[in-house]
Amino acid sequence: MTTKKAAAKPAAPKGGKRKLSVTSLLTLAQLPAQDIELILDTAKDLKAKQKAGRPAPLLAGKTLAAIFEKSSTRTRVSFEVAMHQLGGVMYYLAGRDLQLGRGESIADTARVLSRYVDGITIRTDDHRKVVEMSKNATIPVINALTDYSHPCQILADLFTLKERFGKLKGLRVAYIGDGNNVARSLIFGAAKTGVQLVMSSPAEYAIDKQAVDFSDRDREKNHGELYFNPDPIRAAQGADAVYTDVWVSMGQEKEHALRLRAFKKYQINAKLMANAAPSAVFMHCLPAHRGEEVSEDVIDGPQSIVFDQAENRLHVQKAILALLMGDK
Ligand code: CP
Repeated sequence: MTTKKAAAKPAAPKGGKRKLSVTSLLTLAQLPAQDIELILDTAKDLKAKQKAGRPAPLLAGKTLAAIFEKSSTRTRVSFEVAMHQLGGVMYYLAGRDLQLGRGESIADTARVLSRYVDGITIRTDDHRKVVEMSKNATIPVINALTDYSHPCQILADLFTLKERFGKLKGLRVAYIGDGNNVARSLIFGAAKTGVQLVMSSPAEYAIDKQAVDFSDRDREKNHGELYFNPDPIRAAQGADAVYTDVWVSMGQEKEHALRLRAFKKYQINAKLMANAAPSAVFMHCLPAHRGEEVSEDVIDGPQSIVFDQAENRLHVQKAILALLMGDK
């Protein structure tokens, strides 16, 4: 727990647009708190405009190359619809269909795509590939999920929490389950927005200490708090939101039986939710496995906001795209 006073937010430039301080989005660890605030504010504005039938063509004529080396429903479709609603176009590129799949380097792919399009989003296994893409591209690169992080997901989740509770600072979120890429991004996102986070995982699947240490300074600056409790029932106590993810992520299929045994007592069910605050919500980045990490009655029940999270991927990614690729 850290309790130092938060630093003052830099003011928006007088008479001008507020801008992101980064040129690509690779991890939340590298995204300053004021950039997160700007993305969430922009997403709120774009969502309201879209719902009111006043779309904002902020990327008219712009193009996005979307490289997917792994399966996706939400990320792929929400990026494609986002570009369409912003007046631009997304080109879906399956990794196996590119020369990348036959050994062309990430660096050359980045250099070539930079000559054609205005932005790249990439979903891949190894986070180093996204870093390499960004180092060699002359256009913004957006991480659409790696083994290390899933920043677009957590930005959408923070937006969803703020939409539901009207604030982020001081909210208590219990993440119960695998210490994976989503959990790691949540640690950074919570540290930068002053969320109280309780992590509950079996010891062998706990989040890496490096991520925790790396987020310390942000947590201190933003009055965030981070607790660990391997007992999921205790971890859920008083939580405003209970969050989980699948126990077996893409590429871990061979570990299925082992993981199911390890996570057995970590299922989010009605008994566990009864320990959270009466107004608590249930969150999941999806896809979900009903009967494994979450019971059917919870994910399909009144506390579940999983489809709000899924919808908000669209609005938040529109904000990210517009802020990174729009005319400054
Ligand atoms: N949550 C998420 O990233 O979903 P997809 O794998 O369907 O893109």
